[in-house]
Amino acid sequence: MIFSRKPPLIVGLDIGTSAIKIAVGERRADGGLSLMGSHRVESRGVRKGEVVHHAEASACIMQAVQEAEEALNMEIGEIELALTGGHIDSANQRGTATVSSETHEISEEDVEEAVTNARAGVLLADGKVVLHVVRQQFYIDGKDGVANPVGLLGSRLEADAHCIYGIGTRFQNTLNCLHERRETSVDVNNWVFSGLASSLAILDRHDKELGSIVLDIGAGTTDYVVYAKGMIRQTGVLAIGGDHLTNDLLLGLKLQSRRRAEAIIREHGSVWLDPTVRGKTVKVKTSDLLADRERTFQLEHIHVVLNARMDEMLRIIRDRVFSQGLNDLVGAGVFLTGGCARLPGLVELTQSIFEMPATLAAPQGFDGQVEQFAEPEMSTVVGLVKYGQIKRGEAHSQRGIGAYVRRFLGMAG
Ligand SMILES: Nc1ncnc2c1ncn2[C@@H]1O[C@H](COP(=O)(O)OP(=O)(O)OP(=O)(O)O)[C@@H](O)[C@H]1O
Ligand SMILES: [Mg+2]
Repeated sequence: MIFSRKPPLIVGLDIGTSAIKIAVGERRADGGLSLMGSHRVESRGVRKGEVVHHAEASACIMQAVQEAEEALNMEIGEIELALTGGHIDSANQRGTATVSSETHEISEEDVEEAVTNARAGVLLADGKVVLHVVRQQFYIDGKDGVANPVGLLGSRLEADAHCIYGIGTRFQNTLNCLHERRETSVDVNNWVFSGLASSLAILDRHDKELGSIVLDIGAGTTDYVVYAKGMIRQTGVLAIGGDHLTNDLLLGLKLQSRRRAEAIIREHGSVWLDPTVRGKTVKVKTSDLLADRERTFQLEHIHVVLNARMDEMLRIIRDRVFSQGLNDLVGAGVFLTGGCARLPGLVELTQSIFEMPATLAAPQGFDGQVEQFAEPEMSTVVGLVKYGQIKRGEAHSQRGIGAYVRRFLGMAG
C-alpha cells in the first residue's frame, strides 16, 4: 500500500515512559476509522510520563518518527500528541450565558460563551494551563439533561464542563522535543490527555452510558478517567506504574539488575495474594560480573511485594472516585489497560478493592490491521488516532452537528 502525506492519514504519537509508540490510521469516506500501521521504540529520557532529559528524549522520538516513516512508507508531517504527568488534575465547572437572540433561539455562540464561562471558573494556580474543556451537559432555563441546545429556545443557558489542566512548562518540555528535527518539522494537530485517549480506544458508547472507570497503568504513570451517564466526570494521574514494581522487587529481593527484576515480574509475578502459593519457591539466576548464581525465592514473598504497591495505588484512585459519589454511577466497572494491566491477579485485586467488575482491555472496534493494535500498551496511541478522526469529523460536519457528534462519543472539546 502506498502511503502519502494526504490529509486523511492520522498519526498518533505516544511518548511513554518505557516505549514510544506511533500509530497511523485513515478516516474513511463514511466517517469510520481504519488502522494502517504502527511502530514502537524503547524510550529514553522519559520518567513518570514526562521528558526529563531533552537531548535523549528528542533523539529517540526522532528515531521513532524516522523509522516509522521508513517502515510505513510515508512522511509524517502532523501528529496527535499524548500528554500525561502527575501534575495533571481536573475539575467540573458550570458556566452561564444569556441567550442573545431576540427570538430566544440558542446559537453555537451562546453555547461557546457558556462553556467559556465554565472554563473561567477553574482556579488555575500559577503556571497551570487548561488541556481540555469537555462538554458534559446543558441546562435551558434550569431544565437539565440537554445534550445539544443549539436551535432550541430559552433565555438562560448553563453548561457543565469537565476541565483537565496541568503545568504549562511541563507540557512544553515534551512539545520542545518535536522541534529538533531539521529536515522537516512535526506539527502537533492536537494534544490529548493520555488517559482520555486510552478511554476512546477501549470504551464503546454503551460502556460510557453505563458508567466506566478506565485505568491505564504504564511504566511510570497510571492515568484514570471516569465516565458516568455518557459524560467524563473525573480524570487524573498518579505517578505510579511498572517502574515502581521493578524498584520494589529490586530492593525487596536484593537483586542486582533491573532487567532481572522485570523478568521475575513477567515470569512469576502476581498481585493477588493466593494462599495456595504459600511454601512454593522459584529458582532465579542472578548472574553478576563475578559468577553465575542461582537463588531461591518464596513465590509468596514476590507476590506480597507486588501486591503492596498495586493495592496502595488502586485504593488511592478508588477513594478519589468514591469521594465524588461516582461509584453508584459506574455500572460497567473498571477497564484495565496499559502494559501493567497484564499483571496476573490485577483483575481480581481491582474487583475486590472497587467492589465492581474489572476487565483487561485493549483497543477494540476498529477496522484495518487490527491485530498489531489489540494490545493493552497500544490503547493511548490508538485513542490518539481516534481523537484525530473525531476532530476531523467535526471539521467536516455542519455547524452544530459537531457538538452533537462530540457529545454522542463522550468526547473532548
Ligand atoms: N506481562 C507483563 N506483566 C507485567 N508487567 C508488564 C507485562 N508486560 C508489560 N509490562 C509492563 O508494562 C509497562 C509498559 O507499559 P506501557 O507501554 O503501557 O507503558 P508506557 O506507556 O511506556 O508508560 P507510561 O504510560 O507510564 O508513560 C512496563 O512497566 C512493563 O514492565
Ligand atoms: Mg502509556
